[in-house]
Amino acid sequence: MKYLSYKHKKNYDEIFVENVAIVEIAKVVGTPFYCYSKKTLVENFQNFFDAFSAEEISDYKICYAVKANFNIHLVKILTELGAGIDAVSAGEIFRGIHAGCDPKKIVFAGVGKTREEISYALKNGVEEFSVESIAEMFLLSEVAVSLNKKAKFSLRVNPNVDAKTHDKISTGRKGDKFGVDIEFAEEIYAKAAKLPGLEIYGVAMHIGSQITTLEPFKLAFQKLRELCITLHKNGHKISALDFGGGIGILYKNENTLLIKDYVKLIKKITKDLEVKITIAPGRAMIGSAGALVTKVIFLKESGEKNFVIIDAAMNDLMRPGLYDSYHEVLPVTKKCGVKLTYDLVGPVCESTDILAKNRDLIDPKSEDLFLFVSAGAYGSSMSNEYNCRPMIPEILVDGDIFKVIRKRPSFLEMLRLEVF
Ligand SMILES: Cc1ncc(COP(=O)(O)O)c(C=O)c1O
Repeated sequence: MKYLSYKHKKNYDEIFVENVAIVEIAKVVGTPFYCYSKKTLVENFQNFFDAFSAEEISDYKICYAVKANFNIHLVKILTELGAGIDAVSAGEIFRGIHAGCDPKKIVFAGVGKTREEISYALKNGVEEFSVESIAEMFLLSEVAVSLNKKAKFSLRVNPNVDAKTHDKISTGRKGDKFGVDIEFAEEIYAKAAKLPGLEIYGVAMHIGSQITTLEPFKLAFQKLRELCITLHKNGHKISALDFGGGIGILYKNENTLLIKDYVKLIKKITKDLEVKITIAPGRAMIGSAGALVTKVIFLKESGEKNFVIIDAAMNDLMRPGLYDSYHEVLPVTKKCGVKLTYDLVGPVCESTDILAKNRDLIDPKSEDLFLFVSAGAYGSSMSNEYNCRPMIPEILVDGDIFKVIRKRPSFLEMLRLEVF
Protein backbone atom coordinates (compact mmCIF):
# COMPACT_ATOMS: atom_id res chain seq x y z
CA MET A 1 0.00 0.00 0.00
CA LYS A 2 1.61 3.22 -1.12
CA TYR A 3 -0.52 5.75 0.64
CA LEU A 4 -3.77 5.70 2.47
CA SER A 5 -6.71 5.08 0.32
CA TYR A 6 -9.35 2.41 0.12
CA LYS A 7 -8.53 1.74 -3.50
CA HIS A 8 -5.00 0.73 -2.62
CA LYS A 9 -6.06 -1.87 -0.10
CA LYS A 10 -5.56 -5.04 -2.12
CA ASN A 11 -2.43 -7.16 -2.00
CA TYR A 12 -0.29 -5.85 0.78
CA ASP A 13 1.74 -7.47 3.56
CA GLU A 14 2.05 -4.44 5.77
CA ILE A 15 0.37 -1.04 5.56
CA PHE A 16 2.47 1.97 4.71
CA VAL A 17 1.31 5.55 4.53
CA GLU A 18 3.32 6.97 1.69
CA ASN A 19 6.78 5.56 2.56
CA VAL A 20 6.30 5.16 6.28
CA ALA A 21 5.21 1.88 7.91
CA ILE A 22 2.29 2.29 10.31
CA VAL A 23 4.07 -0.13 12.67
CA GLU A 24 6.98 2.31 12.97
CA ILE A 25 4.70 5.24 13.79
CA ALA A 26 2.88 3.15 16.41
CA LYS A 27 6.21 2.31 18.07
CA VAL A 28 6.98 6.00 18.48
CA VAL A 29 3.61 7.55 19.35
CA GLY A 30 1.67 4.60 20.78
CA THR A 31 -1.95 3.92 19.88
CA PRO A 32 -4.59 4.95 19.05
CA PHE A 33 -3.76 7.73 16.60
CA TYR A 34 -4.97 9.41 13.44
CA CYS A 35 -2.63 9.30 10.51
CA TYR A 36 -2.85 11.50 7.40
CA SER A 37 -1.16 11.40 4.04
CA LYS A 38 -0.14 14.81 2.74
CA LYS A 39 0.10 13.41 -0.76
CA THR A 40 -3.52 12.23 -0.73
CA LEU A 41 -4.73 15.55 0.68
CA VAL A 42 -2.89 17.50 -2.01
CA GLU A 43 -4.22 15.17 -4.71
CA ASN A 44 -7.76 15.60 -3.43
CA PHE A 45 -7.42 19.39 -3.71
CA GLN A 46 -5.77 19.06 -7.10
CA ASN A 47 -8.73 16.99 -8.35
CA PHE A 48 -11.05 19.93 -7.74
CA PHE A 49 -8.57 22.38 -9.21
CA ASP A 50 -8.13 20.24 -12.35
CA ALA A 51 -11.88 19.84 -12.76
CA PHE A 52 -12.37 23.63 -12.75
CA SER A 53 -9.48 24.06 -15.20
CA ALA A 54 -10.94 21.40 -17.50
CA GLU A 55 -14.22 23.32 -17.59
CA GLU A 56 -12.32 26.58 -18.18
CA ILE A 57 -13.92 28.13 -15.11
CA SER A 58 -11.67 30.80 -13.64
CA ASP A 59 -13.81 32.77 -11.21
CA TYR A 60 -14.25 30.21 -8.44
CA LYS A 61 -13.35 29.55 -4.82
CA ILE A 62 -12.79 26.17 -3.22
CA CYS A 63 -13.65 26.85 0.41
CA TYR A 64 -12.56 23.90 2.52
CA ALA A 65 -15.23 23.12 5.15
CA VAL A 66 -13.00 23.20 8.22
CA LYS A 67 -15.53 21.29 10.30
CA ALA A 68 -14.45 18.10 8.54
CA ASN A 69 -11.01 18.34 10.13
CA PHE A 70 -9.71 21.50 11.73
CA ASN A 71 -6.12 20.51 12.49
CA ILE A 72 -4.20 23.68 11.67
CA HIS A 73 -1.41 21.83 9.86
CA LEU A 74 -3.92 20.26 7.48
CA VAL A 75 -5.82 23.50 6.99
CA LYS A 76 -2.50 25.20 6.24
CA ILE A 77 -1.65 22.71 3.51
CA LEU A 78 -4.94 23.57 1.82
CA THR A 79 -4.73 27.33 2.26
CA GLU A 80 -1.20 27.26 0.84
CA LEU A 81 -2.65 25.52 -2.21
CA GLY A 82 -5.12 28.40 -2.55
CA ALA A 83 -8.17 27.10 -0.72
CA GLY A 84 -10.56 29.44 1.01
CA ILE A 85 -12.52 28.37 4.06
CA ASP A 86 -16.11 27.58 4.91
CA ALA A 87 -16.36 28.36 8.63
CA VAL A 88 -19.30 27.79 10.96
CA SER A 89 -17.99 29.40 14.14
CA ALA A 90 -15.67 32.16 15.27
CA GLY A 91 -13.26 29.42 16.33
CA GLU A 92 -13.09 28.11 12.77
CA ILE A 93 -12.53 31.64 11.45
CA PHE A 94 -9.69 32.08 13.95
CA ARG A 95 -8.11 28.83 12.76
CA GLY A 96 -8.57 29.71 9.12
CA ILE A 97 -6.85 33.06 9.55
CA HIS A 98 -4.10 31.44 11.64
CA ALA A 99 -3.61 28.93 8.85
CA GLY A 100 -2.88 31.84 6.52
CA CYS A 101 -6.23 32.15 4.79
CA ASP A 102 -7.10 35.59 3.47
CA PRO A 103 -10.27 36.55 5.42
CA LYS A 104 -11.78 37.61 2.09
CA LYS A 105 -11.71 33.93 1.12
CA ILE A 106 -13.62 32.88 4.23
CA VAL A 107 -17.37 32.32 4.05
CA PHE A 108 -19.11 32.47 7.40
CA ALA A 109 -21.87 29.85 7.26
CA GLY A 110 -23.83 28.18 10.05
CA VAL A 111 -27.33 28.20 11.44
CA GLY A 112 -26.72 30.02 14.73
CA LYS A 113 -24.16 32.77 14.50
CA THR A 114 -24.12 34.86 17.66
CA ARG A 115 -23.77 38.64 17.81
CA GLU A 116 -20.25 38.15 19.19
CA GLU A 117 -19.30 35.78 16.38
CA ILE A 118 -20.66 38.09 13.67
CA SER A 119 -18.78 40.95 15.22
CA TYR A 120 -15.59 38.86 15.47
CA ALA A 121 -15.88 37.91 11.82
CA LEU A 122 -16.42 41.46 10.56
CA LYS A 123 -13.64 42.88 12.75
CA ASN A 124 -11.28 40.27 11.37
CA GLY A 125 -11.96 41.04 7.72
CA VAL A 126 -14.52 38.35 6.88
CA GLU A 127 -16.96 39.85 4.41
CA GLU A 128 -19.13 37.03 3.14
CA PHE A 129 -21.99 35.61 5.20
CA SER A 130 -24.25 32.74 4.31
CA VAL A 131 -27.32 33.82 6.23
CA GLU A 132 -29.70 31.14 7.48
CA SER A 133 -32.69 33.03 8.91
CA ILE A 134 -34.52 36.36 8.81
CA ALA A 135 -33.48 37.03 12.40
CA GLU A 136 -29.83 36.53 11.44
CA MET A 137 -30.25 38.94 8.52
CA PHE A 138 -31.43 41.70 10.87
CA LEU A 139 -28.66 40.96 13.36
CA LEU A 140 -26.01 40.99 10.63
CA SER A 141 -27.27 44.36 9.40
CA GLU A 142 -27.26 45.77 12.93
CA VAL A 143 -23.76 44.55 13.78
CA ALA A 144 -22.33 45.66 10.43
CA VAL A 145 -23.78 49.16 10.88
CA SER A 146 -22.41 49.38 14.42
CA LEU A 147 -18.95 48.53 13.11
CA ASN A 148 -19.29 50.75 10.05
CA LYS A 149 -18.80 47.75 7.76
CA LYS A 150 -20.62 46.23 4.81
CA ALA A 151 -21.41 42.52 5.02
CA LYS A 152 -21.84 40.56 1.80
CA PHE A 153 -25.22 38.91 2.10
CA SER A 154 -25.94 35.48 0.64
CA LEU A 155 -29.07 33.68 1.75
CA ARG A 156 -28.71 29.97 2.35
CA VAL A 157 -31.84 28.53 0.81
CA ASN A 158 -33.38 25.18 1.56
CA PRO A 159 -34.41 23.78 -1.84
CA ASN A 160 -36.45 20.87 -0.43
CA VAL A 161 -34.36 18.22 -2.15
CA ASP A 162 -33.69 14.85 -0.60
CA ALA A 163 -29.94 14.26 -0.83
CA LYS A 164 -30.52 10.48 -0.55
CA THR A 165 -27.95 10.17 2.18
CA HIS A 166 -28.17 9.27 5.87
CA ASP A 167 -31.08 10.98 7.59
CA LYS A 168 -28.76 12.63 10.10
CA ILE A 169 -26.60 14.29 7.44
CA SER A 170 -29.43 15.53 5.22
CA THR A 171 -29.82 19.29 5.34
CA GLY A 172 -31.89 20.39 2.33
CA ARG A 173 -35.34 18.93 2.94
CA LYS A 174 -38.31 20.95 4.13
CA GLY A 175 -38.28 20.78 7.89
CA ASP A 176 -34.49 20.47 8.18
CA LYS A 177 -33.12 23.19 10.44
CA PHE A 178 -30.80 24.65 7.83
CA GLY A 179 -31.34 27.62 5.55
CA VAL A 180 -34.61 29.29 4.63
CA ASP A 181 -37.36 27.70 2.52
CA ILE A 182 -36.58 28.66 -1.05
CA GLU A 183 -40.08 29.99 -1.71
CA PHE A 184 -39.49 32.84 0.78
CA ALA A 185 -36.23 33.92 -0.84
CA GLU A 186 -37.64 36.66 -3.10
CA GLU A 187 -39.33 38.33 -0.16
CA ILE A 188 -36.20 38.11 1.99
CA TYR A 189 -33.92 39.58 -0.69
CA ALA A 190 -36.38 42.47 -1.09
CA LYS A 191 -36.05 43.12 2.66
CA ALA A 192 -32.27 42.64 2.72
CA ALA A 193 -31.82 45.14 -0.12
CA LYS A 194 -33.31 47.84 2.08
CA LEU A 195 -31.22 47.08 5.15
CA PRO A 196 -28.16 49.17 5.95
CA GLY A 197 -24.84 47.40 6.37
CA LEU A 198 -25.71 44.66 3.86
CA GLU A 199 -24.64 44.25 0.27
CA ILE A 200 -26.67 41.70 -1.68
CA TYR A 201 -23.99 39.31 -2.89
CA GLY A 202 -25.08 35.75 -3.62
CA VAL A 203 -27.19 32.71 -2.94
CA ALA A 204 -26.00 29.65 -1.04
CA MET A 205 -27.09 26.09 -0.43
CA HIS A 206 -25.78 22.86 1.07
CA ILE A 207 -28.12 19.90 0.87
CA GLY A 208 -26.26 17.30 2.92
CA SER A 209 -23.15 15.20 3.19
CA GLN A 210 -21.84 11.93 1.73
CA ILE A 211 -23.94 12.33 -1.41
CA THR A 212 -22.94 9.65 -3.87
CA THR A 213 -24.98 10.43 -6.99
CA LEU A 214 -25.30 13.58 -9.08
CA GLU A 215 -29.11 13.49 -9.15
CA PRO A 216 -29.81 15.41 -5.88
CA PHE A 217 -27.22 18.01 -6.86
CA LYS A 218 -28.88 18.39 -10.29
CA LEU A 219 -32.30 19.00 -8.74
CA ALA A 220 -31.02 21.41 -6.12
CA PHE A 221 -28.64 23.34 -8.40
CA GLN A 222 -31.39 23.80 -10.98
CA LYS A 223 -33.53 25.43 -8.28
CA LEU A 224 -30.59 27.65 -7.35
CA ARG A 225 -30.25 28.69 -10.99
CA GLU A 226 -33.94 29.52 -11.28
CA LEU A 227 -33.82 31.56 -8.11
CA CYS A 228 -30.77 33.44 -9.32
CA ILE A 229 -32.56 34.34 -12.57
CA THR A 230 -35.66 35.47 -10.67
CA LEU A 231 -33.61 37.61 -8.29
CA HIS A 232 -31.85 39.22 -11.26
CA LYS A 233 -35.25 40.01 -12.75
CA ASN A 234 -36.26 41.53 -9.40
CA GLY A 235 -33.33 43.91 -9.72
CA HIS A 236 -30.82 42.27 -7.39
CA LYS A 237 -27.24 41.82 -8.48
CA ILE A 238 -26.38 38.22 -7.64
CA SER A 239 -22.60 38.02 -8.01
CA ALA A 240 -21.92 34.58 -6.55
CA LEU A 241 -23.47 31.16 -6.07
CA ASP A 242 -22.29 28.92 -3.23
CA PHE A 243 -23.06 25.28 -3.97
CA GLY A 244 -21.88 24.01 -0.57
CA GLY A 245 -20.19 20.68 -0.08
CA GLY A 246 -21.57 17.20 0.29
CA ILE A 247 -19.61 15.17 -2.24
CA GLY A 248 -19.44 11.57 -1.07
CA ILE A 249 -16.35 9.41 -0.78
CA LEU A 250 -15.71 5.69 -0.93
CA TYR A 251 -16.24 3.96 2.41
CA LYS A 252 -17.51 0.57 1.31
CA ASN A 253 -18.63 -0.18 -2.21
CA GLU A 254 -20.58 2.96 -3.07
CA ASN A 255 -20.64 4.24 -6.62
CA THR A 256 -19.25 7.64 -5.81
CA LEU A 257 -19.67 10.52 -8.19
CA LEU A 258 -16.73 11.96 -10.07
CA ILE A 259 -15.59 15.43 -9.17
CA LYS A 260 -15.18 16.30 -12.84
CA ASP A 261 -18.87 15.45 -13.42
CA TYR A 262 -19.87 17.53 -10.40
CA VAL A 263 -17.94 20.53 -11.72
CA LYS A 264 -19.31 19.93 -15.23
CA LEU A 265 -22.79 20.18 -13.72
CA ILE A 266 -21.89 23.47 -12.04
CA LYS A 267 -20.61 24.79 -15.36
CA LYS A 268 -23.88 23.82 -17.06
CA ILE A 269 -25.95 25.45 -14.33
CA THR A 270 -23.98 28.73 -14.33
CA LYS A 271 -22.78 29.11 -17.91
CA ASP A 272 -24.89 32.17 -18.79
CA LEU A 273 -25.30 33.62 -15.28
CA GLU A 274 -22.08 35.62 -14.90
CA VAL A 275 -21.58 34.59 -11.29
CA LYS A 276 -18.56 33.65 -9.22
CA ILE A 277 -18.68 30.07 -7.99
CA THR A 278 -18.02 28.83 -4.48
CA ILE A 279 -17.94 25.21 -3.42
CA ALA A 280 -17.33 24.04 0.15
CA PRO A 281 -16.15 20.43 0.23
CA GLY A 282 -15.01 18.96 3.53
CA ARG A 283 -15.23 15.20 3.42
CA ALA A 284 -14.09 14.93 -0.20
CA MET A 285 -10.95 16.86 0.68
CA ILE A 286 -9.72 15.14 3.84
CA GLY A 287 -11.76 11.94 4.26
CA SER A 288 -9.63 9.58 2.19
CA ALA A 289 -6.41 11.21 3.40
CA GLY A 290 -6.76 9.98 6.97
CA ALA A 291 -7.03 6.73 8.91
CA LEU A 292 -7.46 5.73 12.52
CA VAL A 293 -4.91 3.27 13.88
CA THR A 294 -5.80 1.19 16.90
CA LYS A 295 -4.46 -1.76 18.87
CA VAL A 296 -6.25 -4.85 20.15
CA ILE A 297 -6.52 -4.97 23.94
CA PHE A 298 -8.48 -8.17 24.50
CA LEU A 299 -10.65 -10.71 22.75
CA LYS A 300 -13.82 -12.08 24.25
CA GLU A 301 -16.96 -13.97 23.41
CA SER A 302 -20.45 -13.18 24.58
CA GLY A 303 -23.47 -15.18 23.46
CA GLU A 304 -23.04 -15.79 19.77
CA LYS A 305 -20.69 -12.83 19.38
CA ASN A 306 -16.93 -12.60 19.07
CA PHE A 307 -15.58 -9.27 20.24
CA VAL A 308 -12.28 -7.61 19.53
CA ILE A 309 -11.82 -4.94 22.19
CA ILE A 310 -9.64 -2.19 20.77
CA ASP A 311 -8.03 0.88 22.32
CA ALA A 312 -9.91 3.34 20.08
CA ALA A 313 -13.47 4.15 21.01
CA MET A 314 -16.54 6.15 20.09
CA ASN A 315 -15.04 9.27 21.65
CA ASP A 316 -12.20 9.04 19.09
CA LEU A 317 -14.39 8.14 16.09
CA MET A 318 -18.04 8.99 16.58
CA ARG A 319 -19.33 8.29 13.11
CA PRO A 320 -20.24 4.60 13.56
CA GLY A 321 -22.13 5.29 16.81
CA LEU A 322 -23.72 8.49 15.51
CA TYR A 323 -24.69 7.52 11.98
CA ASP A 324 -24.15 3.74 11.79
CA SER A 325 -21.43 4.60 9.36
CA TYR A 326 -19.05 2.05 7.92
CA HIS A 327 -15.27 2.20 7.86
CA GLU A 328 -13.27 -0.57 6.27
CA VAL A 329 -11.02 -2.22 8.87
CA LEU A 330 -7.67 -3.58 7.75
CA PRO A 331 -5.05 -5.48 9.73
CA VAL A 332 -1.86 -3.42 9.62
CA THR A 333 0.14 -6.61 9.15
CA LYS A 334 -1.60 -9.18 7.04
CA LYS A 335 -2.11 -12.74 8.32
CA CYS A 336 -3.01 -15.98 6.60
CA GLY A 337 -5.58 -18.41 7.93
CA VAL A 338 -9.23 -18.86 8.63
CA LYS A 339 -11.56 -15.93 9.00
CA LEU A 340 -14.04 -15.52 11.83
CA THR A 341 -16.61 -12.77 12.30
CA TYR A 342 -16.06 -10.15 14.98
CA ASP A 343 -17.42 -6.85 16.27
CA LEU A 344 -14.68 -4.31 17.02
CA VAL A 345 -15.65 -2.40 20.14
CA GLY A 346 -14.02 0.26 22.26
CA PRO A 347 -13.52 0.54 26.04
CA VAL A 348 -16.11 3.32 26.54
CA CYS A 349 -19.02 2.55 28.85
CA GLU A 350 -21.76 2.85 26.23
CA SER A 351 -23.50 0.16 24.24
CA THR A 352 -23.09 2.34 21.14
CA ASP A 353 -19.32 2.08 21.41
CA ILE A 354 -19.09 -0.31 18.47
CA LEU A 355 -16.72 0.87 15.77
CA ALA A 356 -17.24 -1.96 13.32
CA LYS A 357 -19.81 -4.76 13.19
CA ASN A 358 -19.57 -8.25 11.71
CA ARG A 359 -16.09 -8.05 10.22
CA ASP A 360 -14.26 -11.10 9.00
CA LEU A 361 -10.80 -11.13 10.53
CA ILE A 362 -8.01 -13.68 10.56
CA ASP A 363 -6.86 -14.67 14.03
CA PRO A 364 -6.81 -11.25 15.75
CA LYS A 365 -4.60 -11.19 18.85
CA SER A 366 -3.88 -8.81 21.67
CA GLU A 367 -1.38 -6.09 20.51
CA ASP A 368 -2.32 -6.49 16.81
CA LEU A 369 -2.79 -3.20 14.98
CA PHE A 370 -5.85 -2.38 12.88
CA LEU A 371 -6.53 0.56 10.63
CA PHE A 372 -9.90 2.20 10.00
CA VAL A 373 -9.78 3.48 6.44
CA SER A 374 -11.05 6.88 5.27
CA ALA A 375 -11.39 8.34 8.75
CA GLY A 376 -9.87 11.74 7.90
CA ALA A 377 -13.19 13.61 7.85
CA TYR A 378 -15.43 14.02 10.89
CA GLY A 379 -13.08 11.74 12.84
CA SER A 380 -10.71 13.78 14.96
CA SER A 381 -12.88 16.90 14.57
CA MET A 382 -15.82 15.22 16.33
CA SER A 383 -13.73 13.51 18.99
CA ASN A 384 -13.94 14.31 22.68
CA GLU A 385 -12.64 13.27 26.10
CA TYR A 386 -15.58 11.14 27.21
CA ASN A 387 -14.58 8.71 29.98
CA CYS A 388 -11.54 10.99 30.55
CA ARG A 389 -9.87 9.48 27.53
CA PRO A 390 -7.19 11.81 26.12
CA MET A 391 -7.80 13.09 22.59
CA ILE A 392 -5.61 11.00 20.38
CA PRO A 393 -2.54 12.23 18.51
CA GLU A 394 -2.59 13.17 14.87
CA ILE A 395 0.30 12.27 12.60
CA LEU A 396 1.08 13.71 9.20
CA VAL A 397 3.15 11.67 6.78
CA ASP A 398 4.97 13.45 3.98
CA GLY A 399 7.01 11.05 1.85
CA ASP A 400 9.61 9.39 4.09
CA ILE A 401 8.91 11.43 7.19
CA PHE A 402 6.15 11.71 9.73
CA LYS A 403 5.47 14.34 12.30
CA VAL A 404 3.10 14.70 15.21
CA ILE A 405 0.66 17.48 14.33
CA ARG A 406 -1.39 17.12 17.49
CA LYS A 407 0.10 15.56 20.57
CA ARG A 408 -1.55 13.29 23.08
CA PRO A 409 -2.22 15.34 26.22
CA SER A 410 -1.16 14.15 29.63
CA PHE A 411 -3.87 13.74 32.27
CA LEU A 412 -2.59 16.92 33.88
CA GLU A 413 -2.92 18.82 30.63
CA MET A 414 -6.50 17.57 30.37
CA LEU A 415 -7.18 19.08 33.79
CA ARG A 416 -5.59 22.39 32.91
CA LEU A 417 -8.72 24.39 32.06
CA GLU A 418 -10.51 23.23 35.19
CA VAL A 419 -7.75 24.26 37.59
CA PHE A 420 -7.79 27.80 38.93
C1 LIG B 1 -22.61 24.82 5.03
C2 LIG B 1 -21.78 23.60 4.83
N1 LIG B 1 -20.89 23.59 3.82
C3 LIG B 1 -20.09 22.53 3.60
C4 LIG B 1 -20.15 21.41 4.40
C5 LIG B 1 -19.20 20.26 4.12
O1 LIG B 1 -19.86 19.10 3.78
P1 LIG B 1 -19.02 17.84 3.27
O2 LIG B 1 -18.02 17.53 4.29
O3 LIG B 1 -20.04 16.77 3.13
O4 LIG B 1 -18.41 18.21 1.97
C6 LIG B 1 -21.07 21.36 5.44
C7 LIG B 1 -21.17 20.14 6.27
O5 LIG B 1 -21.99 19.95 7.11
C8 LIG B 1 -21.90 22.50 5.67
O6 LIG B 1 -22.78 22.51 6.67
